Amino acid sequence: MSRRILVTSALPNANGPIHLGHMLEHVQTDIWVRFQRMRGHEVIYVCADDTHGTATMIRAEEEGVDPETLIEKMRLDHLQDFNGFNISYDNYYSTHSDENRYFSELIYNRLKDKDLIFTRSVEQLYDPEKNLFLADRFVVGECPKCGEPGQYGDNCEKCAATYDATDLKNPRSVYSGAKPELRASDHYFFDLPQYTDFLKQWTRSGAVQPEVANKLSEWLDAGLKAWDISRDAPYFGFVIPGTTDKYFYVWMDAPIGYMASFKNYCDSSNEVVFDDFWSPDSSCEVHHFIGKDIINFHALFWPAVLDGSGFRPPTRIHTHGFITVNGTKMSKSRGTFINAADYLKFLDPEYLRYYYATKLNGSSDDLDINLEDFVQRVNSDLVGKVINIASRCAGFINKQFDGLLSDRLHDEDLWQQFITAEKTIADFYEVDDTSKAVREITRLADLANQYIAQHEPWKLNKDAERREDLQLICSQAINMFRSLAIYLKPILPEMAKKSEAFLNVAELKWSDHSTPLLGHNIGAFKSMLTRMEMKTVDQLVAASAEDSPSDAKADSEVPATEVEEDKHITIDDFTKVQLKVAKVIAATPVEGADKLLQLTLDVGDHQRQVFSGIKAAYKAEDLVGRLTVVVANLAPRKMRFGVSEGMVLAAGPGGEDIFLLSPDSGATPGMDVS
Ligand code: MSP
Ligand code: ZN
Repeated sequence: MSRRILVTSALPNANGPIHLGHMLEHVQTDIWVRFQRMRGHEVIYVCADDTHGTATMIRAEEEGVDPETLIEKMRLDHLQDFNGFNISYDNYYSTHSDENRYFSELIYNRLKDKDLIFTRSVEQLYDPEKNLFLADRFVVGECPKCGEPGQYGDNCEKCAATYDATDLKNPRSVYSGAKPELRASDHYFFDLPQYTDFLKQWTRSGAVQPEVANKLSEWLDAGLKAWDISRDAPYFGFVIPGTTDKYFYVWMDAPIGYMASFKNYCDSSNEVVFDDFWSPDSSCEVHHFIGKDIINFHALFWPAVLDGSGFRPPTRIHTHGFITVNGTKMSKSRGTFINAADYLKFLDPEYLRYYYATKLNGSSDDLDINLEDFVQRVNSDLVGKVINIASRCAGFINKQFDGLLSDRLHDEDLWQQFITAEKTIADFYEVDDTSKAVREITRLADLANQYIAQHEPWKLNKDAERREDLQLICSQAINMFRSLAIYLKPILPEMAKKSEAFLNVAELKWSDHSTPLLGHNIGAFKSMLTRMEMKTVDQLVAASAEDSPSDAKADSEVPATEVEEDKHITIDDFTKVQLKVAKVIAATPVEGADKLLQLTLDVGDHQRQVFSGIKAAYKAEDLVGRLTVVVANLAPRKMRFGVSEGMVLAAGPGGEDIFLLSPDSGATPGMDVS
């Protein structure tokens, strides 16, 4: 029976680039989607950028653009990355859309009519310089438990304590450095506790993985709290109906963005009816793919909000874990925080799609990307085993038989094994256990290679009397290769496309696995994928390490406390650093920064602007005319206050004792320092 399925991946935040962590999710979803489509089901796969919140507003302000301009550029960048990895959305939209505003208001009004919304006064930290309320991640201070400085307002990276932002000692606003004040304002709440029984039942209905259901039970048993769905102006988002200065919290309208993207698709395709999928009695399926950090939003708030507003709950939430690289959290300084766009500059996306598939097993456990293992698995299994089958046999068929395959199979029993494996492989795909699906496919590839090794077509080639055997054996091998291409197609769509050209067949469907190609003319063989080089992976890592962090969210993904192993640099590393003498032409304090001075430097042939943390040592006016040494080829870095084009070097212990060169040192601006 044909199923009608709506599928989503979590909506990436619009305030940073797509990295390999996001890509895991989109590859996982895309494999499931392509599998279902190949099986003849109707699948609509939608996603969007998650655009709202304070972070977007602040970033737009820093860049001097409208939030709308910023998010549209981001959306296009994200879409380009996803296209690069062949993610097959039917629509990639934005949460800042008319459709999303419409559904957010509709859902809110329905919840309100059902007495599921109430207001309550909330005390929150407020930045008096920026004039805005501060979310937990935008307050730093000392941990109330262990005293560790530099901790965010939700938990301590050092002792793992969780607390309220108001408990931090010596709190500061991340935006302005100002000391936050406690201020009260009215917030809107969704009455989640009314949904406790509904959720206890729903989470045990098979809609989530068992370990996820257990986690949810802990929360349900501890007792649910009402959910704060409003934020005060200024905020980038949708105004709550009936108010002028209250906005929907970004997490309120983000999942509604799934519906909005789907609605936008329905309207433009004119084939699919929105209500078929979302009415309470729908017989269609809705599947969300998410990471384990956002389970509460998808498996508690979202089903409750949907039910409360007269829509159906999701069929299944597929939760995956987080990726680590070489055994540790992705790290900018190690070069293992890899952006999708950087990856695509160096490597074929199918390598990573394949490697992710070998790792994903349908659980929410974290998974490690080991870069050496990555190269090894792709080369030995994919190129060495699968593609090898075709490359060893295609030449004989093409040269000796004009590309014509035999009209019968040589080894029926072996062929039957390829057919019966289909059920096992399909079952693994259905439950996201691509790791086991790939293992089964690799087992088949081993059988095919053994068959070729046993029959040695290259020897038959020299024996005129055994011409027919040569054709039979190579034809069998090519049919086995075709099976593997079918079974791998959800993971490797490009390889499948190239295989279709080689086999001279229409788009391979899942059901093709049972009918061999007999008496059929194939095309010329060109290798579908080349071997990977560790060298290229090293280049990617080096390039990623050069990218400097540029936004708060990305910075926050690498804990400030991360300890780096002691590293030496080589003389080659050092000679890359270009040092030049520069003269300070102007120096001004930076509003909102205690330590920084904005310096205009003369570096000989041009001027540059550098932000330097030397305010404690020098009065701005005393610096004008002084000489200093700058790192001239440091990549420009976007800071909250502007772009810094280089770094000023100074000697001394820091604080008030920092020494620049004196004006009469005999140096001139632009001089190289060696
Ligand atoms: N905007 C929200 C989702 C809203 S859905 C209605 C969000 N965005 S995110 O950009 O931070 O993350 C998007 C998805 O990527 C999430 O499912 C998250 O779990 C996943 N990942 C982000 N970093 C990841 C890894 N390092 N590893 C695996 N998945 C990761 O959350
Ligand atoms: Zn602590």
